[in-house]
Amino acid sequence: QSDLQIAIDGPAGAGKSTVAKLVAKGLDLFYVDTGAMYRAIAYKALSSGISINDEEKVSQIAQRTEVMLDHSDERLVWCDGQNVTQAIRNPEVSRAVATVAAYAKVRERLVELQRMEAARGGVVMDGRDIGTHVLPEADLKIFLTASADERARRRWIELQNSGRNVSFEEVFQDMQRRDRQDMEREVSPLKPARDAKILDTTGLKVEDIVTKILRLAQEG
Ligand code: C5P
Repeated sequence: QSDLQIAIDGPAGAGKSTVAKLVAKGLDLFYVDTGAMYRAIAYKALSSGISINDEEKVSQIAQRTEVMLDHSDERLVWCDGQNVTQAIRNPEVSRAVATVAAYAKVRERLVELQRMEAARGGVVMDGRDIGTHVLPEADLKIFLTASADERARRRWIELQNSGRNVSFEEVFQDMQRRDRQDMEREVSPLKPARDAKILDTTGLKVEDIVTKILRLAQEG
């Protein structure tokens, strides 16, 4: 395994995790889904019955909660020993996560975990601030985007396939709101790193995007 570091950032539904997993597989690197970590904290806050607007309480939860991502093909997400892989994809979590992710102390804690993951060896890490903040020295930085309509459509199909009955309009609105929150927050907002390659995936096939990134990684 090499110690290559690849950062993949971008808005919701741009295909980051699908692409990141395949790139990691192709290059024999770890894949780290940092969004899952923020989701785990949001899930924990919601299930603790505290208000997600209570920055102090949410920050305390982030300090105390043990979040673990396993590196098996199942990619299980654990929160204090509980398997939350499915639960963190719930619409309630998706709606709460950007609020929680805007808190400086929550980010501080999770960035520490993310850097520890990267210290284990080569990684493909996806998120919002990987190229700008978590791994500023990454060998390759990709900023994946796609039209808002296509991103919402992909997410909507994903939800339909997992048996969740939500309207396209609802998915579109939730996604817009979450992206806005991510771009407008004070701490590590969503934006491309200065040295990121911006890839618009609208209308592209997953395998073409993956091939392109593998080529960029090889060019070094
Ligand atoms: O990647 P995913 O859509 O699962 O991320 C969920 C949320 O977690 C994002 O909308 C964002 O609020 C937050 N996040 C973040 N920084 C990251 C990864 C995710 O703020 N590096």
